[in-house]
Amino acid sequence: MSANNIQESLFLRAAFSKSTERPPVWMMRQAGRFMPEYWEIKNKYSFLEMCKTPEIAADVTMLPVNLLGIDAAILFSDILVTAEAMGGDLSFTQGVGPKFANPVRNQADVDRLLTDVDDKLQYVADAIKVIQQRLNGSIPLIGFAGAPFTVMSYLVEGGSSKDFKLTKLLIHNHPELAHQLLAKIAKVTIDYLNLQIDAGVNALQLFDSWALALSWDDYKEFSHNYNTEIISKLNRKDIPIISFCKGSSVFAPLMAESKPDVISIDWNADLLDIKRTLPAGIAVQGNLDPHILYADKKVIKERIHRLFERMRGENGFIFNLGHGIMPDIPFDNVKYAVELMKEFRY
Ligand code: CP3
Repeated sequence: MSANNIQESLFLRAAFSKSTERPPVWMMRQAGRFMPEYWEIKNKYSFLEMCKTPEIAADVTMLPVNLLGIDAAILFSDILVTAEAMGGDLSFTQGVGPKFANPVRNQADVDRLLTDVDDKLQYVADAIKVIQQRLNGSIPLIGFAGAPFTVMSYLVEGGSSKDFKLTKLLIHNHPELAHQLLAKIAKVTIDYLNLQIDAGVNALQLFDSWALALSWDDYKEFSHNYNTEIISKLNRKDIPIISFCKGSSVFAPLMAESKPDVISIDWNADLLDIKRTLPAGIAVQGNLDPHILYADKKVIKERIHRLFERMRGENGFIFNLGHGIMPDIPFDNVKYAVELMKEFRY
């Protein structure tokens, strides 16, 4: 497919709720540790080196394109690169995950964060250009960023967290400071996504992975409002935006108010029931429980068939998981799932 008719790709048609002969397929964390080929690269470089070297980021982005045959590529990067560019001292350690050596917990910490950081993220624009040369119009490229609440949680906690205790203390005891921090991240996120659009992505996904931790009111005030602002300020004609969070089974009605083109649904909800509650023109993405990919092939097949049959005939459906592929899921099972998903016809 040439770059001119990428708009006719299965993925972009489904994202804009147009009819397709089958649902397109891609998977969150499709370029990652479940692939032996990922480890061949990872053993030579640190994760951040991989993100910051456009040729390597492109090599990793292309792994699932070539090995799984998915219908959309996703930029190889991380949601925390914005926080790093703002001044976060970020490292990734195997088995530990992301760490910020200088967590953001008081006014001085918030004041120190930079908000004009496009120069520092130029490597992402460079990677996008290399990837688009390699894709050569075959399938669309999805760019992405972390949503302010989720990125804030890493900055405040200093890394991953089970209960988000410090983040919740900040929003409850010092809401004004939390808003200052969220506004700074939102500004950077808008610039960053516009930079990705300028560099040539075909779609965007906003990852608000940990929104699930919030009550309805807190989600509205500390997450949803910022996501709405971001979506409204993107220069994105013909570029759909997918809004993802864990918690979307509950928050979908609010997420729809931000006017994304697609809402990515976690695995708790019935996908068709959720879709029917959304305004016409909002597509859904999801929502297989990623743990199904650990199971026997006959279980994988049965659950994928069940999901397709539920969604049969619906425009605006993108096959995906409810969250990312876990690192120890067998590659063979992921490949089997993608092959099955591509066999369906409406
Ligand atoms: O989906 C893709 O294949 C594209 C690349 C991508 C990565 N991270 C690569 C990655 C994307 C879209 C992300 C987003 C991301 N990063 C999210 C949102 C999506 C989600 O899963 O909810 C979050 C919360 C992060 C933060 C982050 N980065 C975590 C929690 C970890 C894993 C820590 C661990 O060791 O389990 C990372 C590291 C990371 N990001 C890896 C990859 C391939 C593993 C790095 C390694 O090889 O050590």
